[in-house]
Amino acid sequence: MPFEKTILCIGAGYVGGPTMAMIAAKCPGYKVTVVDINADRIRAWNSDHLPIYEPGLDELVKETRGRNLFFSTEIEKEIADCEIIFVSVNTPTKTFGHGAGMAADLQYWERTARQILRHANSNKIIVEKSTLPVRTALAMERILNASSGNTRFDVVSNPEFLAEGSAIKDLDTPDRVLIGSQETPEGLQARKAIVDIYANWVPRDKIIESNVWSSELSKLAANAFLAQRISSINSISALCEKTEANIDEVAYAIGTDSRIGAGFLKASVGFGGSCFKKDILNLVYICRSYGLDTVADYWQSVVKINEWQESRFIRNMLANMFNTVAGKRIALFGFAFKANTGDTRESPAIYVAKGLLEEQAEVVISDPKALSNAPKELEGVEGDMTFEPDPYAAAKEAHAIAVLTEWNQYRDLDYERVFESMIQPAFIFDGRNILDHEKLYEIGFNVLAIGKKPLKHF
Ligand SMILES: NC(=O)c1ccc[n+]([C@@H]2O[C@H](COP(=O)([O-])OP(=O)(O)OC[C@H]3O[C@@H](n4cnc5c(N)ncnc54)[C@H](O)[C@@H]3O)[C@@H](O)[C@H]2O)c1
Repeated sequence: MPFEKTILCIGAGYVGGPTMAMIAAKCPGYKVTVVDINADRIRAWNSDHLPIYEPGLDELVKETRGRNLFFSTEIEKEIADCEIIFVSVNTPTKTFGHGAGMAADLQYWERTARQILRHANSNKIIVEKSTLPVRTALAMERILNASSGNTRFDVVSNPEFLAEGSAIKDLDTPDRVLIGSQETPEGLQARKAIVDIYANWVPRDKIIESNVWSSELSKLAANAFLAQRISSINSISALCEKTEANIDEVAYAIGTDSRIGAGFLKASVGFGGSCFKKDILNLVYICRSYGLDTVADYWQSVVKINEWQESRFIRNMLANMFNTVAGKRIALFGFAFKANTGDTRESPAIYVAKGLLEEQAEVVISDPKALSNAPKELEGVEGDMTFEPDPYAAAKEAHAIAVLTEWNQYRDLDYERVFESMIQPAFIFDGRNILDHEKLYEIGFNVLAIGKKPLKHF
């Protein structure tokens, strides 16, 4: 039986893979193909070892792959064959030229647009899935329609709000799906085609429609707001440490105000991930380019606080360990930027590991899912570092443990056994506030958490 709709996704990464697996699962009548220039990644998507870890992803891919979900490197052929193209390529921060370190690097995106233009032989709806600067759709439509002959391209914005670590749940029951388009008859028709896909499983009142610029900007703004909450609570954590207020109590008291809400108020060593920093910097860049310097400064301070929180964590370790960690073994519990993912991009653990190595510590990195990515993040960094999947082995004969990812398994370790195996006095720096600090103190640890009174035996 022929498929009802043919959908292509360009970019088989953390967004493209899971999102398309969900569409294939929810819409068995659609043919969904995911392509990438990275042949290794496509090979992994077609194997038993998927290129990314997400709870529930293996099962979803097993159910759909070969039925109506396909992974391929034949980009040109797939462009020609499909009706709707989701573009989910990476949009990192520019590292060169004008806007370096701030603006989004749109080279992958533009290359994709030109490739679509070259190989499309029928009308297509192009869906911006990548996070892009506001008004990119205009540039995209100009490139696509400048020399398209009789082929028509409509660009729709459909930013992705999934969070790594809970991607499958977020895609299955999203808070909302946002779809923006031009408000012309053709634009509205293209918008409806994308709404119809999601309406297969998302309640209609959770599918928000808007103009294309609102949709593009909402994604940047949403990430900026999320990161801002973390920087806000982290800034207060520093004050807690000076005043004996307890950050968990303060966060609870703030979060019970229904106008504020409880989510995203967990103090920590800092936020990481591939998106928050790059999207805020992009927002800052856009604001500056429109002459809105005060607005730009406001959002830039969110990144500044995050960097300060990371460096404060290292300074705190040093100060408590008698101002030197040279030659001391320090176990890092967690290297992923958050729990339930193997993704290490912009992880605060990178910063902490580098800082400790600069101080000539012996750094042992442990993580249940991120040990294949961790060495890549530290490539070229000098110093004594090892990678050890077993946290007990990592902590053996260490002077200190730093908890850098909120993996559940670190809550449940036998800390008496850990304590016995360490050099005394033994320290735990809980950069995620996930451990039972009183209990650890009773065992004999010196416990330094974020935004809390130090529990020390001397
Ligand atoms: N990771 C997240 O949690 C998340 C959440 C929401 C939005 N986003 C946004 O989604 C976009 C993709 O993010 P990601 O984390 O999936 O990135 P990623 O780096 O994991 O994946 C992008 C993929 O695109 C491929 N690619 C690049 N150029 C290509 C081309 N011309 N043709 C075919 N494939 C090409 C790359 O090889 C790579 O596999 C970014 O804009 C990001 O900001 C990410």
